[in-house]
Amino acid sequence: MKLDIIAGARPNFMKIAPIIAALEKVSDKIQYRLIHTGQHYDKKMSGNFFEQLGIPEPHVNLEVGSGTQAEQTARIMERYEALLLDRHSEHPEPKGEGAWESHNKLQKTSKDHSASVGTTFKGKSDWMLCVGDVTSTMACSIAAKKLGIGLIHVEGGIRSNDITMPEEINRMVTDSITDIFYTTSEVANENLRKLGHMESKIRYVGNTMIDTLLKNMSRFQKPVAWDKFDLKQKGYFVMTLHRPANVDEEQQLKALIDEIVTGAKGMPIVFPVHPRTAKMLKGIGIEADNLHIIEPLGYLEFNYLVKNAFAVITDSGGITEETTVMKVPCMTLRDNTERPETITIGTNELVRTNPDNIAPFMKKLHNGDWKSGGIPYLWDGKTSERIVEDLLSL
Ligand code: UD1
Repeated sequence: MKLDIIAGARPNFMKIAPIIAALEKVSDKIQYRLIHTGQHYDKKMSGNFFEQLGIPEPHVNLEVGSGTQAEQTARIMERYEALLLDRHSEHPEPKGEGAWESHNKLQKTSKDHSASVGTTFKGKSDWMLCVGDVTSTMACSIAAKKLGIGLIHVEGGIRSNDITMPEEINRMVTDSITDIFYTTSEVANENLRKLGHMESKIRYVGNTMIDTLLKNMSRFQKPVAWDKFDLKQKGYFVMTLHRPANVDEEQQLKALIDEIVTGAKGMPIVFPVHPRTAKMLKGIGIEADNLHIIEPLGYLEFNYLVKNAFAVITDSGGITEETTVMKVPCMTLRDNTERPETITIGTNELVRTNPDNIAPFMKKLHNGDWKSGGIPYLWDGKTSERIVEDLLSL
């Protein structure tokens, strides 16, 4: 079997890492090709994750760089299709911020990979496997499916029912043409059944992101921020914010951060910022003694901070899965979630985006009244093995 694996943006990398490790064990039966679209290209958003998680260098980097949703989608589709049609060498010069940088890196790295895992195939694969809900997931799905390639979606079926999120559109489009769904939750299975997908296409396997978390927990690394800000076990908050609804309007971002700083009652708040948020923060100039704004962290450093935190405040989806497994209280600053089991089973609470909602949840936290939470079925570290075993039967 010839299989393409797609990865494009930060949250994809921890989801593909364990699948690739499991595929390496059956390399006599499944030949895979790792394709990085180049949607995320900064070392801090991409390269570090490959190094820390031991992901081999991609066989191909499509080097699409930054752009609007449509620009990125179009570039990824055009370049992935060219690869599938074996016209990759003809693809246009890299476009977009950061694209040349990643192009130059690729020249060096693609050789490293072919040396370490042997030669790969050219042209069309039999199957394409994508993960999550980023632009790269949707764009590659459309390109592959139109060429008759079987489509596998890991983390299929989850829905926020919020069509203003680009990720929700990506999920809906991808799932509408998917052949095999590997799912993370019973809610996802039910969503797919309601959409009329046949039971035989839906395979509840668990969560590959949790495979990565459990595998790497003993390797988590204390970040420089620990000593720099004199952090103490369970004595600080970790915060991440990057959704347009929270960070694209100065007033909203400022109101949220003000409430959080007050609610933290002097406890340090460590805030690694996504490039999108960094651009906005420069404009509003927030300062507080207990607010520590830092660059995005590597996987091992970030999760060290999360594991030892008093609580996490986030608008990410994936982080709520990790806090659930590490049993760290988590407040989600969104009006919906595509991962309801992190609330019904785990330690997550939907605080929503209204800054006035933050204070009562902070009170609960400081009073020690937060729920302890459980772990969803099959989030056990063995999901990728189940996926690869199933792939062998396709
Ligand atoms: C993407 C995903 C989102 C995910 C997030 C995590 C989509 C639709 N969204 O959003 O689901 O939670 O990644 O990180 O795919 N930039 C850099 N360096 C990079 C990459 C981006 O500076 O390596 C800048 C871009 O120039 C742009 C901004 O960050 O200004 C946004 O990047 P983009 O890839 O468009 O989407 P994300 O917001 O990162």
